[in-house]
Amino acid sequence: MDGARNSTLGWIGTGRMGYAMAERLAKGGCDLAVWNRTRDKALPLEKHGAKVVASLEELATRDIVFCMVSTWDDVKQVVGKLLAAGARPKMIVECSSISLEGSSELRKILSGEGIEYLAAPVSGNAKVIKAGKLTFVVSGPEKAYASARPYLDLMGSGSSYVGEGELARIAKICHNVFLGVVIQSLCEITILAEKAGMPRHAFLNFLNKSVMGSMFTRYKTPALVNLDFKVTFTPKLLRKDLDLGIDAGKAMDVPMPLASLTRDLLQTMIGHGMIEEDFATLVLMQAKASGLDIKPENKAVGDGLS
Ligand SMILES: NC(=O)c1ccc[n+]([C@@H]2O[C@H](COP(=O)([O-])OP(=O)(O)OC[C@H]3O[C@@H](n4cnc5c(N)ncnc54)[C@H](OP(=O)(O)O)[C@@H]3O)[C@@H](O)[C@H]2O)c1
Repeated sequence: MDGARNSTLGWIGTGRMGYAMAERLAKGGCDLAVWNRTRDKALPLEKHGAKVVASLEELATRDIVFCMVSTWDDVKQVVGKLLAAGARPKMIVECSSISLEGSSELRKILSGEGIEYLAAPVSGNAKVIKAGKLTFVVSGPEKAYASARPYLDLMGSGSSYVGEGELARIAKICHNVFLGVVIQSLCEITILAEKAGMPRHAFLNFLNKSVMGSMFTRYKTPALVNLDFKVTFTPKLLRKDLDLGIDAGKAMDVPMPLASLTRDLLQTMIGHGMIEEDFATLVLMQAKASGLDIKPENKAVGDGLS
């Protein structure tokens, strides 16, 4: 399998992320069979050459099975069903953002079945995937990584191999703790700037051009300027990742003061019932807390991705 793309692939989970990732594999000409709990969501992949299957059993003969669901409980459920259906793929590449403990339990289960396992969580949302800029952080046997790498490359702009075991999980958790803290800070300073009298688009234009600007601040700018909160990542999924970070900090005696504060701000938002839209609705919370009634600016601002 090394270096070439001649494996048969299975895919589990076509939510916001999984769909966009599988779409890149299908468009890249891979032999891909896809299963999603809600089958209809996966069906549009057929026009790109993927086969959408009705049961996990139909992934039984695939060489490499990718998994992109939500939480560790969900991963455990789908992989459990896959194995119970008699499937013994050569390798499972698990991309959901899950805990170290869950990942290591999965490694034990799979190694008992002689299945290679890579932990391969990702950075980027569905728009980032479409722009070809998704990145992976990967851990597990290096040889397995060499086999999976051509597919990872096809789904984005590359991967970082960080070592054996579950190291990729901690890297991803650290990444998303940073994401949470950065979005909260970005919301705070944007509201501060607006309350001082400048439009949000003008402030963010300055920030994005500065050394503090990043791919993230740029692609969140349209949401903050025009208050378009179509979900890229839900508040609850972000809370899960902050909790994973805080738990890891506790386990390793690392204080996480900013993560803890951000987690509680996010919890307050969730407690107010703000759960259906994007996590960038933190800006609405910040505006409310600042006595500011913010409105969409209806400005054509770029997201830095296209
Ligand atoms: N969105 C982002 O920006 C982003 C970025 C990086 C990483 N992530 C991580 O990527 C993962 C997926 O995120 P997402 O935004 O794509 O979530 P999502 O849109 O909610 O999709 C979740 C997917 O998992 C499936 N699923 C959930 N529980 C299941 C179960 N018990 N059995 C079978 N299928 C189940 C869902 O199936 P149905 O369609 O049937 O509901 C759906 O396909 C999460 O771990 C998230 O933390 C997300």
